[in-house]
Amino acid sequence: MQKKKTILDLQRMKSEGERIAVLTCYDYPTAVIVDRCGIDVILVGDSVGVVVAGYDNTLPVTMEEMIYHTKAVMRARPQALVVADLPFLSYQTDLAAARLNAGLLLKDGGAAAVKLEGGVNIAPAIRAITEIDIPVMAHIGLTPQSLHRMGGFRVQGKGEEQAEKLLADALAVQEAGAFAVVLECIPAPLAARITAELSIPTIGIGAGVSCDGQVLVLHDILGLCEKYSPKFVKRYAEVGPIISEAVSSYISEVRQGAFPEEGHSFS
Ligand code: KIV
Repeated sequence: MQKKKTILDLQRMKSEGERIAVLTCYDYPTAVIVDRCGIDVILVGDSVGVVVAGYDNTLPVTMEEMIYHTKAVMRARPQALVVADLPFLSYQTDLAAARLNAGLLLKDGGAAAVKLEGGVNIAPAIRAITEIDIPVMAHIGLTPQSLHRMGGFRVQGKGEEQAEKLLADALAVQEAGAFAVVLECIPAPLAARITAELSIPTIGIGAGVSCDGQVLVLHDILGLCEKYSPKFVKRYAEVGPIISEAVSSYISEVRQGAFPEEGHSFS
């Protein structure tokens, strides 16, 4: 049987140059499939608010929703390391709230680690959470919870000054105790520089080929999100038309009386 993955495996993978594959999951059936495929890390991302709940951004997502989705994923008993996102306002207001909410994602949700967004500004929260032995994955660059400060979803770290600021963010989250850091939508050469400077693994999304691992949103790679498809997404399947075909066949068979058949009935 495959061994349950831990943060120590990610550290070893970085030191041995083995790439880390990460995908989001928000429910039991997809967690079963994704885990069977051998994914290293399942991220119960607050992107659930956009790709499942249909919000325009991740800001409305609540702790209750994150716990609900984390519990659903954990019922798949994944071998992958499960990391759950701390939603907007669950860790930014004070350190006690950050600790409590991080703890709830482990205690009630069943996750093994949490992820939060921010660099130098959020390092005290990372330190507070890791001090009570809760592993933290950091997230810098394009941080969707800061969309209004960034003026939209745009590439971060362009130009020397911004690049230096992002490098400082990366060093700050490592120093605060993060076990890994997501680099979202930053220039590839900057991601390469950060990856070389850090001892913890970098997980890229729109951050080029040099990161220690990659993360994408499951619904994006399956072609299940019709809203928009960012440049960094590769669609490995078009599941939308497959669902449409099945649903259309069902509707027409019900209307024609072709379903149910004898075999679907009880005598
Ligand atoms: O919420 C999420 O899915 C994420 C990833 C895109 C990194 O934060």
